[in-house]
Amino acid sequence: MDNVLYQTHIGTWAILALAVIVSLFYRSFYLKIFFRILAVLMLTSGIGLAISLSFPLVFVMKLIIAVLCIGLVEMLLKREKPIKSYVLLGSTFISFLLLCLIGFGVIRF
Ligand code: HEM
Repeated sequence: MDNVLYQTHIGTWAILALAVIVSLFYRSFYLKIFFRILAVLMLTSGIGLAISLSFPLVFVMKLIIAVLCIGLVEMLLKREKPIKSYVLLGSTFISFLLLCLIGFGVIRF
């Protein structure tokens, strides 16, 4: 079970990032739905993995940042010109970077 969760989690993060980048330039209803499915998969597999590690504090932080990041992307995709919303774009990028750094164990406590 852990292996399934792990493979799902690591198999989706790059596709998720790619789906967001494409959505910034190309407006599509199906792409948005695809992003949401991937985001739910990412969250649930991440929570499953964190539970199997008895949910250390760093993953509680990661969960909060992940929900924030998904919210930021949703706000971004509602904008008329998402690529010109520099503050939103910047915060989304920083939160995504933090998620990856925590995921790869660069940030740990
Ligand atoms: C959009 C949100 C997320 C992104 C982009 C993300 C990204 C990543 C990345 C890049 C990795 C490393 C994969 C590898 O080793 O190749 C990872 C691992 C992991 N993530 Fe996430 N993650 C997200 C959400 C979450 C959430 C919500 C949780 C749980 C609260 C979580 C828990 C974990 C755990 C437990 C690992 C495995 C760490 C280990 O094996 O040491 N992730 N994540």
